[in-house]
Amino acid sequence: MTAPSPTPVGDVADRASAAFRTGYGEPPAGRWAAPGRVNLIGEHTDYNDGYVLPFALPLRTVVAAAPQPGTTWTVRSELTGEPVTFGVDEVTGAGRVPGWAGYVAGVVWALRAAGHPVPGARLAVASDVPLGAGLSSSAALEAAVLAALVDLGGLDLPADAQPRLAQRAENEYVGAPTGIMDQSAVIRCRAGHALFLDCRTEAVDHIPFDLAAAGLAVLVVDSRAPHRHADGEYAARRAACERAARVLGVPALRDVGVADLAAALDRLPDDETRRRLRHVVTENQRVLDTVDLLRAGRIREIGPLLTASHTSMRDDFEITVPEVDTAVEAALAAGALGARMTGGGFGGCVLALVDAAAADSVATAVATAYAARGFAAPTHFTALPTHGTTQMQGRAPC
Ligand code: GLA
Repeated sequence: MTAPSPTPVGDVADRASAAFRTGYGEPPAGRWAAPGRVNLIGEHTDYNDGYVLPFALPLRTVVAAAPQPGTTWTVRSELTGEPVTFGVDEVTGAGRVPGWAGYVAGVVWALRAAGHPVPGARLAVASDVPLGAGLSSSAALEAAVLAALVDLGGLDLPADAQPRLAQRAENEYVGAPTGIMDQSAVIRCRAGHALFLDCRTEAVDHIPFDLAAAGLAVLVVDSRAPHRHADGEYAARRAACERAARVLGVPALRDVGVADLAAALDRLPDDETRRRLRHVVTENQRVLDTVDLLRAGRIREIGPLLTASHTSMRDDFEITVPEVDTAVEAALAAGALGARMTGGGFGGCVLALVDAAAADSVATAVATAYAARGFAAPTHFTALPTHGTTQMQGRAPC
């Protein structure tokens, strides 16, 4: 069973219920919520079997659902009036349902491929997680749908096995070659904590991340940069890492430590591959160092690690764009303790660790720098770590 929600999720849940009732003419049997995420540190390390440290956002995707006889699935979104219906044929081969509903079909496909008797269902989706901002709106959708189907069907799939299944939906059905971070974060995070995940073993440790007690805030700025060739560039970075691992004769770049870095760099054939390796190896170490500082209660001191992560993404992994670099520079100049792009890159969001009282002035400084460069105005919010997938308590309102 999915854990009950400890906190009310509010409006978005009402919107999911309303979309269900409008679409199907009756109330849902239940509602399941999954959050967006930001990654505090550890970028492009997940598919290298390395370490990541994301936390869940208070922004949620909610799926209202009820069983439907037989093996068909119907899904509606509050954004698009039209329902999408698919049956067994569309979930025997990957990719047969296109567009946003493909994430839903992908979850059904992955469950069936793993031998689970997935119940037919009607679903309605509402979300506060912005699309295309690098906050894992797709993982949130996958996780909420997965939780709904697991609970409706009484399927035997514990929460810690769900990220791998949702990742298969995204990798194999939708066709995006992502790692395990996003699905793990949106399913396994706990309120007040960052999720320290070993992406090889999927072992997790919930690291206390009490920003308020330290007088701090994490400011999240949506760079609003158009994603430029993000899919192809992501796949190219992943391929370069896999190539480097092959040359070095290791299962994954996680197996190269900072102590081995100089020797490993010497063995690689070209400068580009060397820079990709250096990012992954140093980034893994920065995650471990960040976790050590957080465990010691030294939150303020993680700032330089965040900034070093950004520099590494900019210069070695080459996944930043002028908008995110501008946001990071402006945030640091305005007094942020550290700042970095978060997520896959080529746009998306920047996070800045700031004194809580300075959050507004840092956000204003970023907006001013944007205006000076002629970029579209950024949006921002402050984020406290919340919990992963939940089944919402109480009867869904009619
Ligand atoms: C995207 C992917 C993740 C991860 C990050 C980069 O968010 O979905 O698996 O690779 O990029 O850290």
